[in-house]
Amino acid sequence: MCGIVAYVGEREALPVIIKGLKRLEYRGYDSAGVALINGELQVFKKKGKVTDLETQLNEQELKSNIGMGHTRWATHGEPNDTNAHPHYSLDKKLAIIHNGIIENYASLKQELISKGHEFISETDSEVLVHFIEDIKANNNCTLVEAVRLALTKIIGAYAIVIMSQDDTNTLIAARKGSPLVIGLGKEEFFLASDATPIIEYTNEVVYLNDHEIAVIENNGLKIKNTEDTPMTPYIQTLDMELEAIEKGGYEHFMLKEIFEQPRSVLDCMRGRLSATDARLTLGGIREYAGALENAERLIIVACGTSWHAGLVAEYFFEEFCRLPVEVEYASEFRYRNPVIKEGDVVIAISQSGETADTLAAIELARSRGAIILGVCNVVGSSIARASHEGSYTHAGPEIGVASTKAFTAQLTVLFMIALRMAQRKGTITESKFREMLVEMENIPNKIEKALKLNDQIEYISDLFKDKSNFLYLGRGYNFPVALEGALKLKEISYIHAEGYPAAEMKHGPIALIDEEMPVVFIATRDSSYEKVVSNIQEVKARKGKVIAIVTEGDKLINQMAEFVIEIPATNEALMPLLSVIPLQLLSYHIAVMRDCNVDQPRNLAKSVTVE
Ligand code: AGP
Ligand code: GLU
Repeated sequence: MCGIVAYVGEREALPVIIKGLKRLEYRGYDSAGVALINGELQVFKKKGKVTDLETQLNEQELKSNIGMGHTRWATHGEPNDTNAHPHYSLDKKLAIIHNGIIENYASLKQELISKGHEFISETDSEVLVHFIEDIKANNNCTLVEAVRLALTKIIGAYAIVIMSQDDTNTLIAARKGSPLVIGLGKEEFFLASDATPIIEYTNEVVYLNDHEIAVIENNGLKIKNTEDTPMTPYIQTLDMELEAIEKGGYEHFMLKEIFEQPRSVLDCMRGRLSATDARLTLGGIREYAGALENAERLIIVACGTSWHAGLVAEYFFEEFCRLPVEVEYASEFRYRNPVIKEGDVVIAISQSGETADTLAAIELARSRGAIILGVCNVVGSSIARASHEGSYTHAGPEIGVASTKAFTAQLTVLFMIALRMAQRKGTITESKFREMLVEMENIPNKIEKALKLNDQIEYISDLFKDKSNFLYLGRGYNFPVALEGALKLKEISYIHAEGYPAAEMKHGPIALIDEEMPVVFIATRDSSYEKVVSNIQEVKARKGKVIAIVTEGDKLINQMAEFVIEIPATNEALMPLLSVIPLQLLSYHIAVMRDCNVDQPRNLAKSVTVE
């Protein structure tokens, strides 16, 4: 999820690498490191910023024309000096840097330990370099062949670069699921996660494709795939500006992150959910899994978008686990002197893992005997460390202040926790369990399909961008999504918007309806569909303008609404993962059309670390 830079050529490698890692800082990270061949293969790495690493390196006399650097976004193992990359092989003659998640690292690690390998980090990445070393030794083959053979056994996502003390002019790189770009200079080569570290040296690049292995040696580049088939490098000439590259060609980080959701939801399930094997493994909740299953109630504490994720979770924990759930604003919970009993389970949801109110809420709950499970996106964050156990959302760094991919990743993790609990408690049948696993695996593709609505939503946005108020209405699982849609619009376009349970309209808010009031209905095909249709008619009867999110193929609502946005069908409980997508896009386009600062809205911070 984070940053890779490597270099071989006529220049001093270290300055190129350090500058390149700084170019990748926008991606967020928790630690950094470099490997150089300065007589021998040397690794320098530490928790913290690239400048902290740079200070440490400046104290050394380091000369090398080959090297690689890494900024880590931890997925396996706390952010610390030991878990930072690069990682050595057992004999310290190989070093690896890795972006991504190796799903089968645990079984590979056990196998390697039984063969005498010793590991010093908790990471999945260190296992890969030992695995390559083991294959090379046992097959007496070249390093490239050992890399190829190893990658045929790896399950998961990777972008890697490997250096060897015995091949002082060779860089070996490979990718599957994580990006890697090769820069072609004059008698020099660059490797990076995106083109930002490369563009100032050359605009001739090769984007490595999944399952490809690049070998840069003796001033030449060869590419083959993991089936050992030679591939012809496709050289492109980049004409993007630096800032455009950082955003992956998108105009804003928020739009990039909205479009990353098929991948981030997939990354969230990686190594945890397999419909084929009917398996759900949540490694981060083991010791307290029993406490969760035996809990008499569940308390969820969070703020903002994370609180909305908690509201969705309330519906499926109660439906599937038959467990009473209370969803609390952390800021209220912490000051209310809440009733907390020994053995109560509190789930804290937080993208940043640093939200002051949420941290204070769980510290209060923990002090009164509750068991705390964290659902965070930042490994090693304060809330993660203050929790007994938990599951990370693996959404990758979320740069835009308005939370998008973190929300769908939170829902995915929370749903996996609930589904595994329901299966163990026997509150759902095995066939229902399998059915939900299959549908969860379909979600990334269905999000992809929902994202294709972008142009239609941009068109609708232009018609409503000057409105002063919006209402968002939904029922059941879609009620929290109505709240989330309203928050997204408020926080980036500065238009006042309110989310409500659709049925609540008649208890007051319907007085607001007139021809100036756009009302966004989430009216997907579910158990409350007919009721929502009636609510739409109530709004239409008062000249309200209706924008309806419906299930594709809906023939009824397009006869009533001004605009209908059709999203794929899915199980009612999973619908929030899809119905939120058009609302994210609607708020984004309206904000852009109002010339708002989409990525850094006024008055807001990405992480509210103060009360
Ligand atoms: C969401 O778009 C907002 N940026 C904000 O409500 C956010 O969700 C809230 O501050 C909680 O942050 P956390 O998930 O990092 O705890
Ligand atoms: N999974 C690896 C780790 O946790 C790599 C994370 C990354 O992509 O930075 O170290």
